[in-house]
Amino acid sequence: MPRLFLHNRRGETTRTDMASLTSNELGHLPADQDASFHDIRTMSLVKSKRRVADHGEVFTPPWMVEAMLDLVKGETERIDSRFLEPACGSGNFLVQILRRKLAAVEIKYGKSDFEKRHYALFGLMCIYGVELLPDNIVECRDNLLEVFAEYLGLNDADDLYKAASFVLAQNLVHGDALTMLDSSKRPITFAEWGYLGKGKFQRRDFRFDVLTHASAFSAEDSLFAHLGKHEIFTPTKTYPTQTISELAAEAAL
Ligand SMILES: C[S@@+](CC[C@H](N)C(=O)[O-])C[C@H]1O[C@@H](n2cnc3c(N)ncnc32)[C@H](O)[C@@H]1O
Repeated sequence: MPRLFLHNRRGETTRTDMASLTSNELGHLPADQDASFHDIRTMSLVKSKRRVADHGEVFTPPWMVEAMLDLVKGETERIDSRFLEPACGSGNFLVQILRRKLAAVEIKYGKSDFEKRHYALFGLMCIYGVELLPDNIVECRDNLLEVFAEYLGLNDADDLYKAASFVLAQNLVHGDALTMLDSSKRPITFAEWGYLGKGKFQRRDFRFDVLTHASAFSAEDSLFAHLGKHEIFTPTKTYPTQTISELAAEAAL
């Protein structure tokens, strides 16, 4: 478990288990304690100097993740708000976004097991990431799945667990966010998921490179300004509606 080493101004060091910190504690460090940059780098937030040099791999400490997410607090607490992190690492941001969405699910749908399971999956469906390094993307998917499974009390034999695993394999892409190509050098596509109610999900796939041109397309002087968004944002594929057990079956393919 990563540990945050805190120094106070008297030079004393305390260790804090990151996982044991509450979100309030993570939001602001005590006034006389500054997280030492050196300790953060060397103790928990880097895997190796080579990876820092090659890929800029420095993970964000939990208290900073919380503070940054609080800048868009309302969105993080909305089940259907979509988040994409183009360099997601092992999911320091995405895991906390999922936690906040699940808290919203609990408040809104906690009393109905059916609604809770479906809206929790829908919340997960609205989280996206791209990551260059293969070990990080695997860790990222695992970290999100663990939080999801823990919230719903699932094990790996449950259809909902398999469906969530399938969704994460689609939404968390092993690829390069700069070239917008996946690890097989194909254009990255993202699934837009919708929940239609009564246990049915809708999926449409869109190319990442087209989505990122949204603002350019709609600029007034753009060649495409006269086009409706539907003419630009044509899905590469539209799927029939699917239930949790149908998504779970896809995980096995
Ligand atoms: C600074 S770390 C941040 C990870 C995570 N966002 C966090 O804050 O803990 C940057 C991550 O971006 C990944 N990365 C670097 N270049 C990338 C690229 N072109 N496309 C996708 N991921 C990339 C690295 O492998 C690394 O995991």
